[in-house]
Parts: sequence; structure tokens; C-alpha cells
Amino acid sequence: MAINFKGRCLLSLNDLSSDEVLLLLEGARVWKQQFYAGNKPPVLKGKTLGMIFQKPSTRTRVSFEVAMHQLGGQALYLGANDLQLKRGETIADTARVLSRYVDALIARVYAHQDVVDLAQYATIPVINALSDYSHPCQGLADLFTILEKKGTFKDIKITYLGDGNNVVHSLMFGIAKVGGYLCVATPKGYEPNAQVVALANAEAQKTKARIEIVTDPIKAVREADVIYTDVWTSMGQEAEHDQRIQIFKPYQINAQLTAQAKSDALIMHCLPAHRGEEITDEVIDGPNSIVWEQAENRLHLQKALLVQLMR
Ligand code: CP
Ligand code: NVA
Repeated sequence: MAINFKGRCLLSLNDLSSDEVLLLLEGARVWKQQFYAGNKPPVLKGKTLGMIFQKPSTRTRVSFEVAMHQLGGQALYLGANDLQLKRGETIADTARVLSRYVDALIARVYAHQDVVDLAQYATIPVINALSDYSHPCQGLADLFTILEKKGTFKDIKITYLGDGNNVVHSLMFGIAKVGGYLCVATPKGYEPNAQVVALANAEAQKTKARIEIVTDPIKAVREADVIYTDVWTSMGQEAEHDQRIQIFKPYQINAQLTAQAKSDALIMHCLPAHRGEEITDEVIDGPNSIVWEQAENRLHLQKALLVQLMR
């Protein structure tokens, strides 16, 4: 497939066409195979990735850094508090300057507009490493993990339970691009962003995907092949934590709830997990949990992405 990614940005999974998503999933498969064969071809030798983080990260930071290292390039961690951004230098000026030093940027931000501004003023590719709106690298790795385990997106039901947040937004865009069935169950008032629902549904019409938004967690998990959750309190929402744990209780993935799904329903979580809140130990540590492979797949998927954008 000849697709030109060079110089592009990835701010939302909806920026990609269905063919581009499928190409990245295939790339992840190949890079994973290479990894297990012990091959680390230095295809990004001499390239530098700048990594701006306004919020903490374990998986995203380490998987991008290791990916660059294994591809022969290097990564620079740029904590937002250590940059002149902290003292009022604008995002636009930061983007203009960093574009003259590094070959691509990833940015984890509170407000999505920050990564949009960065992309607007940078002259190099910019990748959203999580914003309050979306988490496209997570969404792509999730699709890859589902495809790896199930072999297809057709005729399987993926259920997401919990908060209508950045992670489910990317999952919705992703499923809409590849043509699967995603049932999202949230409490009233915590549904995914209405604009994301409309955009995902518009894409879903083209691929015959089905995106359902419901409130009943028990009905949502019935017949599910995959059950996915994320934290109830995202970074930046800490003040709402006590209220949220009360409201989201019926959406906890525990043995009682998973008993309503297919007996082999896979359990996914983007991590970090708040054990005892959105998921119980018995489920996350249980035989159907694929959360560690899901986390590993961030590395393989991001290699595919970096090579497409930077080579
Ligand atoms: N899933 C994810 O993005 O994890 P980190 O916050 O650790 O990067
Ligand atoms: N929704 C979570 C995802 C963390 C990877 C957050 O934004 O904090």
C-alpha cells in the first residue's frame, strides 16, 4: 500500500484514513515479529524525537523512548515544567524553536488545543501522546491487540465500561475506521463527547461499523468478546475523585459483571489501573486479562508510526 505519511501529524485517530490505520496495524505486526527475531534495524539513525510531557507517564514515555533507541535514533524527555513554557514562552515559539533541533515531537498535554497549536506552528510531525480529548497511540495499540487476539474486527462485540473520556474517544474513532462493533456504557452525564460520537458515526457509516452508547453495564457486557475499561478519574480530574467513585460503582469490572459476558471475553485496560475501583484484582490478574500484552503493543505500534512519520 503506498501511503505518504511523511511530515504528517497525528492529533486524533480520526485524522487517519481506514487504509492508513490498517497500514499501521500491519506495521506493528511486522515490528513485533522483528523484535522477537532479535532484529533492531537502525532505520531512524541520526533522528531525534522530542517528548514534551505536561503530565506523568510510564508506558507512553518509556515505549516511545525505547522505540527510538531500538530504531537507532534518540529521544529527549522534555518535562513541561523544565521548559521556558513554564515561564510563559508561547507554545507557538516553542514549536518553532524545537522544529529546528529535533525531527518529530510527541506531546502529552492537559488541553487538546495545546497539541493542536504545537502542530500548527511546528514544521515537523507532532504526535498527540494523550490530551483531554484523545489518546490516538493508545487507540491504535488497542486495535492491534484486538486484531492479534481475535484475527478480525467483524462479528465481535467490544464493550467499553466507565468514563466517556480520551481513551474511549480514540477507541470509537478506531473501531469506526476498521468496521467493528463497539458498545460504550457510561453513567448519565459521563457519555463520550457528542462531537466525537457524531464524527465516529459518520465514519462508521462508511465501514459498516456500529458504535452504541448505552447506560446499562449489565446489558452492555452481554455477549461481549472484549471488555475494556479505563480509570474513572483521569489526570486533571483529581478533585472529582470521591464523587466519581460513587457514580461509577456499577461499572466496575468484577467477577459478577464479567460472568454476564462470553466466558472467554478478553479483558483490556490502557493502564494505569486503579485496582479496586474500575477493575478488581481477580479480573485484571485473571486468565482472560491481556493488559500486559496490550501495554507491550504500544512499543511495536509506535515503531510503525515513528517510521512512517520520520523516515
Ligand atoms: N496508557 C498510558 O498512556 O499509560 P501512561 O500514562 O503510563 O503513559
Ligand atoms: N483517561 C486516562 C488515561 C491514562 C493513560 C487519563 O487521561 O488520565
